[in-house]
Amino acid sequence: TVEQKRSDYDLMLQTARFYQHQLKHHKNSSAVIDYVKGRGLSGETVKHYMIGYAPSEWESLCQQVGRNPEQRQQLLELKLASEKTPGRQFDFFRDRLMFPIRDKRGRVIAFGGRVMSKEQGPKYLNSPETRIFHKGFELYGLYEAKQANDKLDSIVIVEGYMDVVALAEQGISYAVAALGTATTVEHMQTLFRTTDTVICCYDGDRAGKDAAWRALENALPYLKDGKSLRFVFLPDGEDPDSLVQQEGKEAFETRLSHADDFSKVLFDKLAQNCELTSDAGKAKLMSEALPMIGKVPSDFYQESLLEKLARLIGRTREQLSAKLVTPKQQHN
Ligand code: CTP
Ligand code: MN
Ligand code: MN
Ligand code: MN
Ligand code: MN
Repeated sequence: TVEQKRSDYDLMLQTARFYQHQLKHHKNSSAVIDYVKGRGLSGETVKHYMIGYAPSEWESLCQQVGRNPEQRQQLLELKLASEKTPGRQFDFFRDRLMFPIRDKRGRVIAFGGRVMSKEQGPKYLNSPETRIFHKGFELYGLYEAKQANDKLDSIVIVEGYMDVVALAEQGISYAVAALGTATTVEHMQTLFRTTDTVICCYDGDRAGKDAAWRALENALPYLKDGKSLRFVFLPDGEDPDSLVQQEGKEAFETRLSHADDFSKVLFDKLAQNCELTSDAGKAKLMSEALPMIGKVPSDFYQESLLEKLARLIGRTREQLSAKLVTPKQQHN
């Protein structure tokens, strides 16, 4: 119900405030603040992103925010607390640096938490899905990016929370992250409703390259006239956070302005697995590229992609046009 939702958002906000308070006042506070400073973040950025600290104790949030039975139950339902045995609840996030995830209206709907000590399980723990949090639809940092920019001419999509906040710290306040998942079609839809240019900038490793390819596939249906999808591939072992701290805003923005167009990435990748000196290889490239080209709604882009493909396999654009299967377009 509407009332239920309002109460959920209120509890999430109370929780975010609780974590913010702990960052300043918990007994571990100075170590956590040292960590945050060591990662190059200023108080201003910490505040803008409402970054906090989930205490190391088992029942801090439960006792502070889940004081009465209804609130305790609500903490369980919002996955901020877990239950070992009936009636015995404990905090879901413990001893973690906390990143509140806000929806496009600024309401806190979930959290991501980074471990502070090594023995404490996975590096990042994210809120599971709840009645107010649907992972595949939300982008970390989108609300904050809108707050910081009158107009979002482009949006950079990165892998991690730390990448988003480190870029913002350096003055690149238009980065967002998918939440520990691949970039979904829904993410791409949201992004292209918000901006004309999406620049994918994932980590410089195998996983980052795979993520880029999946992002490309998921973005094709949203490439209408005037929309642009581009890719920055980072040096091995680097991520946007590490790199922007080394080289600063200007050098990083130079990388962004030299990003590869999606058509280059598409053909480079497909051609890798095809021996283009043989008919078999050319046929393979054609059969892999045509269905992807067919998904692009812009006729203009479609024609330049066909032209590129035609050149690669020694055919004419007209020959290829005839083979193109265009899905009935649901997206206007
Ligand atoms: N992630 C996750 N669970 C993990 C590891 C990663 O959900 N066990 C997600 C997080 O959203 C994380 C992103 O994947 O931000 C990228 O992971 P990774 O590159 O490993 O972490 P960084 O963001 O680089 O974090 P850090 O710099 O703090 O190591
Ligand atoms: Mn869901
Ligand atoms: Mn990574
Ligand atoms: Mn990373
Ligand atoms: Mn990193």
